[in-house]
This record gives sequence, C-alpha cells and structure tokens, in this order.
Amino acid sequence: MAVGIFDSGLGGLTVLEAAARRLPDVDFVYLGDNANAPYGVRSPDDVYRLTTQAVGRFWDHGCDLAILACNTASAAALRRMQESWVPQDKRVLGVFVPMIEALSERGWGDNSPPREVAVNHVALFATPATVSSRAFQRELAFRAIGVDVEAQACGGLVDAIEDGDLILAEALVRSHVDALKRKMPDPQAAILGCTHYPLLADVFQDALGPGVKVYSQADLVADSLADYLGRHPDKIGQGTQSKFLTTGDPAKVSARATQFLKRGVVFEAA
Ligand code: DGL
Repeated sequence: MAVGIFDSGLGGLTVLEAAARRLPDVDFVYLGDNANAPYGVRSPDDVYRLTTQAVGRFWDHGCDLAILACNTASAAALRRMQESWVPQDKRVLGVFVPMIEALSERGWGDNSPPREVAVNHVALFATPATVSSRAFQRELAFRAIGVDVEAQACGGLVDAIEDGDLILAEALVRSHVDALKRKMPDPQAAILGCTHYPLLADVFQDALGPGVKVYSQADLVADSLADYLGRHPDKIGQGTQSKFLTTGDPAKVSARATQFLKRGVVFEAA
C-alpha cells in the first residue's frame, strides 16, 4: 500500500506529514529532487523533463499513484504529463485543485458553473514559474467569479529553505509580504502556493496580520487524497515500505528534513 509523494526538494514533506497523519495505514515513498532544486526558476520544458524523470521512479517502488506535492511541477508539467506521459494503469495528481476547491467553497469534483464566493481579495505567494504560468488564476476562473488575485513571486525563498538559512528565509517572507501589500493593501486570504512555504507559515501569518486567512495546502491535499483513495482503492500500490529518497546528498537532506520536521528523518539515495 504505497503512494508516491514528489517535490523538487523539502517542501513536499509538509504534504507528506499531513497525508501520513490522515492515512496512517498507507505507506508513502517520498522523493525529493534536491539535486535539481529549485524548480521555480526553470522553464516549463525543464520542469517537465525533471518531473517525469523523477516521477517515473515511483513505479519501481510499488506505487501506482503519485502526488506532485510541488506547485511548480503541478502548474508547469502536470497537464502535459497527464495528456501524454502517465502510463494507463498509473495516476499522477497535483496540489492545486484541492486548494482552489476550498477557496471557492466546493466539494471534491464539483464541476458546476463558476459562482460568487465569500473571499474577493486573495494574495497568492508562489515561485516565479508558478506565478508566470497563471495556472492558479486559470483554475480559479473555472470555479469562482469576482475574485481579485494578486500574485507575488517569492524569488530566493526556496533556495534559503533548502539551504536551511531560516534567518534569510524569514527576511524574504517579510519583504515579499510587504511587496504584495503595496499592490493589494487588504487581502482577505492568502494562499501559500509553494509547498516549501508552510515551513514558514507563522512568519507569513505574522507579516500578513491576524485578519488574513492563510490556507493550509497540506491538510487540504491530505483530505483530497483520502477521498480519492476511498473512490479508487485500486490505486493503492503494491509497495509495503515507507521511505525517503533524494537525488541530492542523503546526509545533508536528512539533516535539513530533521530540522524542519523536528523528528528524525533518514533519506537514502534515489
Ligand atoms: N515546493 C515547490 C513548489 O511547491 C518548490 C519549487 C521550487 O523548487 O522552486 O512549488
């Protein structure tokens, strides 16, 4: 019973933690492409090439379902993968839609026409590649009308987190929130549209102020995964072992993951 969870680096661990809490009987194979992170400054072709190269490894670890716990890969590569790359008996799902369904007050797979929703001013914090894809705005437009989205590309933030430099990461969060507020002074809600950013959720909330609802992508994705596996039990693969794989240096990645998750995590070479 193994499901694959992929990210360019450490950020997908936020999704893994929530999924493991929500589905304690399922084994998870986590794969971080730390050797090639960050993805957020790469072209869509490059993100597609790296993501397919990485996700293909899950099939060898007994997974039939892979979650792209990476907004950049979900925005830049997922559709192309689903159209022409994913084998017939496998599934690859992204992390965008559950968050947009929550924001637009919809249940899973509710495809009714777009309608007005309670939140009208939304701040989106994401990588440069996710922001320039406009995938978030496109998916939201299918479901909601009258929502003003201001996107802030948070250059440098993934690098600082991958390097474990939390002082720099905090300074970058505060300066990106300031930049966002110059464009949209009073957002009602904020989307942390990169799975690395919840590692600094407290800093985002503090910089945004208590009146702004910060959406937690990890829990929304975990709920949606539980729902999906309930409807598609055949997609719980044959694998029987949880493991953490990285294309980077396992000792370095294990140390960072242990720092962020505040528990011992041991990565092995992918
Ligand atoms: N965690 C990835 C995301 O959600 C980070 C992308 C990157 O490597 O820049 O977008």
